[in-house]
Amino acid sequence: MFAKDVYINRRSRLREKLDSGVVLLLGNVDSPMNYRDNTFHFRQDSSFLYFFGLDFQNLAGIIDVDSGEEYILGNDASMEDIIWMGPQVSLKERAEQVGISCVEPFGQLLKRIDQAIALGRKIHFLPPYRAENKLLLRELLGISAGKLSTYASVELIKAIVSLRSVKEPCELDEIRKACATGYQMHTTAMKMAQPGVWEQTIAGTIEGIALADGGTVSFPVILSQNGQTLHNHDHSQVLQNGRLMLTDAGAETGMHYASDFTRTVPVGGKFTQKQREIYEIVLAANNKTQELAKPGVTYLSVHLAAAEVIASGLKDLGLMKGDVKEAVQAGAHAMFFPHGLGHMMGLDVHDMEDLGQIYVGYDREIRPSHQFGTAYLRLGRKLQEGFVITDEPGIYFIPALIDKWKAEKIHSEFINFDKVNEYRDFGGIRLEDDLLITATGCELLGERVPITPEEIEAVMQS
Ligand code: GLY
Ligand code: MN
Repeated sequence: MFAKDVYINRRSRLREKLDSGVVLLLGNVDSPMNYRDNTFHFRQDSSFLYFFGLDFQNLAGIIDVDSGEEYILGNDASMEDIIWMGPQVSLKERAEQVGISCVEPFGQLLKRIDQAIALGRKIHFLPPYRAENKLLLRELLGISAGKLSTYASVELIKAIVSLRSVKEPCELDEIRKACATGYQMHTTAMKMAQPGVWEQTIAGTIEGIALADGGTVSFPVILSQNGQTLHNHDHSQVLQNGRLMLTDAGAETGMHYASDFTRTVPVGGKFTQKQREIYEIVLAANNKTQELAKPGVTYLSVHLAAAEVIASGLKDLGLMKGDVKEAVQAGAHAMFFPHGLGHMMGLDVHDMEDLGQIYVGYDREIRPSHQFGTAYLRLGRKLQEGFVITDEPGIYFIPALIDKWKAEKIHSEFINFDKVNEYRDFGGIRLEDDLLITATGCELLGERVPITPEEIEAVMQS
């Protein structure tokens, strides 16, 4: 964990942002996978980690905004726990490491919340995403599980988003560690991408790199020669010559900070002319993003600028036609680039997504688009110094989507469907880097994973 002062300071800044009431932050519990004692990998809740730092099960944190009192609720290990899990540090000692001196048994939580409700105090809680915490909140607050998110505290959500969006230097150090592991994962995948190799062999190997570095993957590895499927977790194919392998994978450090990179490489190590032409467009869109991203600029405008680079490149190849700006305004590029340019990244790979994208990625000025493609943009609002974001444009040839748009003549004034047909088996290309917004622009987090065709071919042939 970070130094005690980091957590003390975060909680004090949170209190300053709230008017009054009681903040209730729930940690996560173990969840059974196929029977009670065989649990999923434990992952602490990110907001709980951010304010309370304690990375184990069955905890709750309370911050009294009015009195300034702070509590950790949890139970010390029983003798039975110690027999199975080994000696455990007392909760009191652990709480002191994050600057909290009031520790109470977990059973006191109901009493504390009941008291606050009886006094008519506001209970600030976050929208729950785990069934166990929905059940607990239902018991504590008497709100049905389905309505909990509606009653979550928007004031608390906004306060937490404003704090967690701007990364502290200690957080950037952790993200850079995640990037260093991500670098190893991706260069290893590149070197393994030879015809005849199973995708699962590569996916398993790179996940092992994340584990061996003391963390895990920041989300299930996406790795496939069918990269046109945006989030392809199927690794059951054998790589074939002439295909592209798309790998979208990142590491999560032991402190739970993420990296998230995507690279697309030619199976066997040499791009064909056709692959390279599309690749260069995606790379230009990725580089354009880094040119434009700076404080005060909306990421929605950067997304649209990247879309214009893509539409312009596709027009040069005869795949699109007409006026590029008009095509992007109409949303025609989205047949090829049907997702957003990027998202916040931090303790979660899609940082704070559990709090609601409308609060994390948008504000009063910049509202989400309803247009196909841009509607998937997770971050549209103005960038600020200290934001950590991803830059991940792509071009994909999705046969089912192409067929639908062609049959329904969707944006046929901007798309040359006959030419597109020549690319039906192409697959997809995405290139993703992680950026820190600085005072004047942005900088890449971590050493840039090889990205030019020359760099990739050199790594693959080394
Ligand atoms: N890297 C997966 C995603 O950003 O959705
Ligand atoms: Mn991403």
